Amino acid sequence: MYTSKIEGIGHYVPENIVKNGDLEKIMDTSDKWIVERTGIEERRWFDPEKDTVANMGTRAAKMALERANTDVNEIDFIVFATITPDYFFPGSGVLMQRELGLQGIGALDIRNACSGFIYALSTADQFIKSGMYKTVLVVGAEIQSSALDKSTEGRSSAIIFADGAGAAVLKRNEEGSGVLSTHLHADGDFAEELYMKDPGSSREVRLSKDLLDSGSFNVVMNGNVVFKHAIVRFKEVIEEALLKNELAAEDIDLLIPHQANLRISNFVQKQMGLPENKVFNNIMHVGNTTAASIPIAMSQAWEQGRIKENDLLCLAAFGSGFTWASALIRW
Ligand code: UT7
Repeated sequence: MYTSKIEGIGHYVPENIVKNGDLEKIMDTSDKWIVERTGIEERRWFDPEKDTVANMGTRAAKMALERANTDVNEIDFIVFATITPDYFFPGSGVLMQRELGLQGIGALDIRNACSGFIYALSTADQFIKSGMYKTVLVVGAEIQSSALDKSTEGRSSAIIFADGAGAAVLKRNEEGSGVLSTHLHADGDFAEELYMKDPGSSREVRLSKDLLDSGSFNVVMNGNVVFKHAIVRFKEVIEEALLKNELAAEDIDLLIPHQANLRISNFVQKQMGLPENKVFNNIMHVGNTTAASIPIAMSQAWEQGRIKENDLLCLAAFGSGFTWASALIRW
């Protein structure tokens, strides 16, 4: 049986840096509050003149391909994780396919929010394991900043969410290492605890002035509920992956949690009994980029020499749905 392996990882973040001090000017918040409660010092918000979800994904993919020493034409399939596609339909996967000049190959969009990249990785891994494809591009890209209520009313979400993209080249591997297992979960009972209601299709009129005024096009998050569930599910899904592979927490060389909130990452690190240097965080500088968060973090960790050949890497995520997921990778 085949396994799959990440041969290259890349990322792109918009040039526009938004510091906490910039937010102090538009809403009632403070640098101190944001740093204490989330760890975030600055984040990137897109430039509408320049950045789209698809073109950020393309830039990340080109970096990943270069690092994987792989020609773009080797790609057999695209799995694109985003909850903020450029169009309501079609998905951004086909737009990126066009930008890469890969007309004809399949492109699938995945809509699992912060767990989206691991869901995408798992999907790509199954296609490779089954023998259907040899090389799959796995992407996470988001523009959240245009759906945030940037007034004081929306501040608990507006200070967290941000924009960016990450991509991985996943290839068939005959050495038995690579992606060891992936674990996917969801609980729709909590769908409305973190969601964006509109443009919903189950309304007689999808778009009206009243709807626009009601704020239903903004991200709504019950931060406390999300936080409490996140810290339980992160630990659970990491332990599930370790158990499946008969490994223990001390075997992990690097844990890359979805960058939801630095307090969540620190909590998970302590719960798992891991030393600080075994958990990678970059939320301080990029914020919470939903499906892009894990591949951006993986790419930056790799650049910093934090991921080495044969390391055991653990990815874990929790987010809207609720959904949660993990992956264990022998690099
Ligand atoms: O990406 C995956 C899904 N998302 C997450 O995992 C996020 C999980 N949740 C969180 O990260 C946190 O719940 C938040 C950062 C969103 C909020 O932090 P918190 O410590 O849970 O704050 P809170 O919502 O309980 O609010 C505490 C206080 C409130 O004031 P009062 O009622 O105590 O007077 C808020 O109004 O802080 C106030 N507050 C703020 N103050 C200044 C909320 N947001 C802000 C803000 N600046 N931006």
